[in-house]
Formats: sequence, C-alpha cells, structure tokens
Amino acid sequence: MYYIGIDLGTSAVKLLLMDSAGTIRNIISREYPLHFPHPGWSEQDPSDWYRESLEGMKILTKDIDRSEIAGISFGGQMHGLVILDDKDQVIRPAILWNDGRTQEETDYLNHTVGETKIASWTANIAFAGFTAPKILWVRKNEPDNFRRICKIMLPKDYLAYMLSGSFCTDLSDASGMLLVDVKNRRWSPEMLEICGITESQLPKLYESYEPVGTLKPSVAEELGFPRTVKIIAGAGDNAASAVGTGTVGNERCNLSLGTSGTLFISSSSFVDTPNHALHSFCHADGHYHLMGCMLSAASCNKWWNEEILNTKDYAGEQASISRLGENNVFYLPYLMGERSPHNDPSCKAAFIGMRMDTTRAEMTQAVLEGVAFGLRDSLEIARSLGLHITRSMIVGGGSKSKLWMNICANVMNLTLDVPAIQEGPSLGGAMLAAVGCGEFASVEDAADRIIHVTDTIEPDPVLTEKYEEKYNRFRKFYPALKGLF
Ligand code: XUL
Repeated sequence: MYYIGIDLGTSAVKLLLMDSAGTIRNIISREYPLHFPHPGWSEQDPSDWYRESLEGMKILTKDIDRSEIAGISFGGQMHGLVILDDKDQVIRPAILWNDGRTQEETDYLNHTVGETKIASWTANIAFAGFTAPKILWVRKNEPDNFRRICKIMLPKDYLAYMLSGSFCTDLSDASGMLLVDVKNRRWSPEMLEICGITESQLPKLYESYEPVGTLKPSVAEELGFPRTVKIIAGAGDNAASAVGTGTVGNERCNLSLGTSGTLFISSSSFVDTPNHALHSFCHADGHYHLMGCMLSAASCNKWWNEEILNTKDYAGEQASISRLGENNVFYLPYLMGERSPHNDPSCKAAFIGMRMDTTRAEMTQAVLEGVAFGLRDSLEIARSLGLHITRSMIVGGGSKSKLWMNICANVMNLTLDVPAIQEGPSLGGAMLAAVGCGEFASVEDAADRIIHVTDTIEPDPVLTEKYEEKYNRFRKFYPALKGLF
C-alpha cells in the first residue's frame, strides 16, 4: 500500500509518497506566494494550498498503481487562522504563524486576563503568532468578518476538510491555538469564552494518527484515487517533523532549520513549565512535547543571500568560511520579530561589530551563527528546567549545509544526528497516515522501523569553548537594544 504525507509549508507544499515498507517512492514540491500586506503581517490564500496540494498529488502518484493508495496525512504550518462562512467560503486570507499584528491582543491576554490564568487553562501564555490573539484581532478590527465565522480551522485542517468534508483538527496543532487545555487534551471553555466563540465553530479534536474520514467521491475521481483512501488527522509541522525524525517517546530532541527554527523535546508526560518561555503542547505520538520557536531561521540565510547578496549560490557564499568561533560580527535573527524566548513581535534583525576590514564571508557566517545562538536561547531554557539534552536530530532546509550543522553542534554543545531521510514533516505525515491505516501498531513503532541515522556531528571541545564566549556576548545584545527597535 502507499501513504502520502503532505507538508503544508510557508513557501511551498512538499508531498512525499511512502510504501508499506517505509521506503520513499517519490517526493515533489509546489510553491505558492506568501503575502506581506502590511509590515509585520503575513498572509496566504488557502485556495493556493489546496490547488497546489491536489496538483502535487497527481504528479506524485503518476507512476504508481493508484488503487494501492491507502492513506493521506499532513504536517502543517501551525497557528494560522483560517475562517469559513456558512457556505464554506474562506472569509479572508489566512493569518499565518509569523504574523506580528496582534501585540495588543497578546498583551490583553497576558496582562489583562493574566499569564497565570491563561497558563492554568492552556499550559501556555499568549504569543503574537498563536491563533487565539488573531481571533481577537478579527473580532476587533473586522467585526463583519467575525460575525460571519462558521468554522475556524488551522491550515492543514483546511486541506483535510476540502479532501474529506471532515471538520477536524489534531491535538498537536490545536495546542498552538491557545484554545486547548493541553494537559487534558480538550478545548478550554474559558479561552473560548474570552475569544467570543463556541465549540460548534471549532473542529473536532483527534489524535494525530486517527482517521477522520475518507476522500470525497468527487475528489477521489479528480485524483484517480480509490474512494476508500483514509484521511488521517496529521500534526503541526513540528510534531510531524519530530515523528519523521523519530523524536517520539521521552526526552528526545529535534532541531529544525526551516523557515522557522525550532527546538523540539518529546516527553512521555505533561510538562508544566514555570515561565512558559517554551511552548508545552500535545505531541503527535499521543503524549506531549516542549518547543521553542524562532520565527526566522533558514529564512535569514535566504534573505541574506537572495535579497541582499543577490545570489542563490548559498554553498559558494559559505565556501570561504573557515575560522569558526572567531567571528567578531554578530547577527540578531529577528527579521519577523521573535517568538521564543523574547515574545517580541517588534524587535528587528541587526548586524553588530563590523569594521572596515569585515568581509562578506564574516557577515554570512554571522547570519548562520546568529540563528544557532537564537536556537541556543531555547535550549538554555530547556536546560534550566533540568532537561539534560546532549543529543538531537537535525532537519530542515538549513541542514543541507554541513557547515551550518557544525556551527549548531558547537554553539549548542550537542551531538547532532542526521536522519537518512531529511523530509521531517512530509515523512512524519506519511508515517501518521500509515499508523492510521493500521500498517504500524503505533507512532513509536513506525519510527523504530523507518528512521535511521546516516551521519553524526560531534561538537569539538575547543570550538564549544570559543562559542560559549561568543554566545555570552550575543545574549546581551537583545536586552540592550530592546527599547530601540
Ligand atoms: C511553531 C511555528 C512554526 C510554524 C512553521 O510554533 O510557528 O514552526 O509551524 O510552519
């Protein structure tokens, strides 16, 4: 049988076809636009996601016997607000995870309602990218749109709805809405009331590996797939990526260098963090996880190369970087403000420390290092909670650069394992589909059988010491600049 994993990303949808043995049979990617209609805002058109996913599935499966397709599931960009009216029409463009318009609503939730109450209901505090502040923003700024809301869903859930007609979500992704009582895996009545919505406007909650329905006959016909193809709930992209790297069970770690950068730690039990600087969410394996998310990771490198240096030759730009741990140029990676740990949508990126003899390569190096330092900020919080993380998987576009992985290993003093298949969320999606169709007994069982490490990067004690000193300087820049952005 075949399983399709759909990674609904911010720049593109990636589709992966896996067979019963866990072998990858095909991977394709289809891009769509990202709109910034106002500085700090970030939106996408859900119909772009659906169109490209459908076209993608046709191409993905063109050389196989489609009657053997059994299941489809997802890893989706998290937190995005998708709203539909009573005719199932999308009311306005989706407001994405890296959109910073909700400072006022976030402050209202954290300071007027109060962090302690919010955290007692959801296990988290409000961050600008989360979904609940966006609902409050629409209520205040677009009251006509708010009144028309019949269904509220997350990006990947729009795909599941269009494919199957099932109004559903999964607990890992729903955790990032700030509407879920994470510990008890159910909607929080208090948060629904604060947002002025009812449970009937929200999707049914599933575990990530549970089937939610089958393909609509019309969609099955268009795709040439059997009508029996099951749609499995899927997960937020970070939880799906964790599944796709075997980061399941207890205290395993995954670093993702994608558009966003995340540090993800799986946990077999619920974790209540004292300061809520890391998100405490449900995991796709039926348990829990902690996560730190920086809003601009590989996107910093993309911006630096493509927008500023005007090149796509990333490897060429990195070729002359040699003196790790000795760069005196620093880069603050806050191109879209920052989530973890600063929770500050209005902070900005910066280069610091250039001199007349500073080279282009040093600035490129500073960008790679700045992202690693930003991820270390989250790791430091995990370490302060008593979590003893010394090893992690690493995935995402940025992990194509061995140099960048080496920088991450040394900045964070972590042994980094590179999985044989580096397709985190799309592989995780396909694995969840396979679990939901009964191919594997559990998510952990699927991970044990499918995930293999092909390369390991060990930190070098000389470099980790040098980077320790650099990190201690890096972490002082944000507090010093905070009020000036
Ligand atoms: C996680 C987050 C990002 C998006 C990227 O909290 O906001 O990693 O999921 O797609």
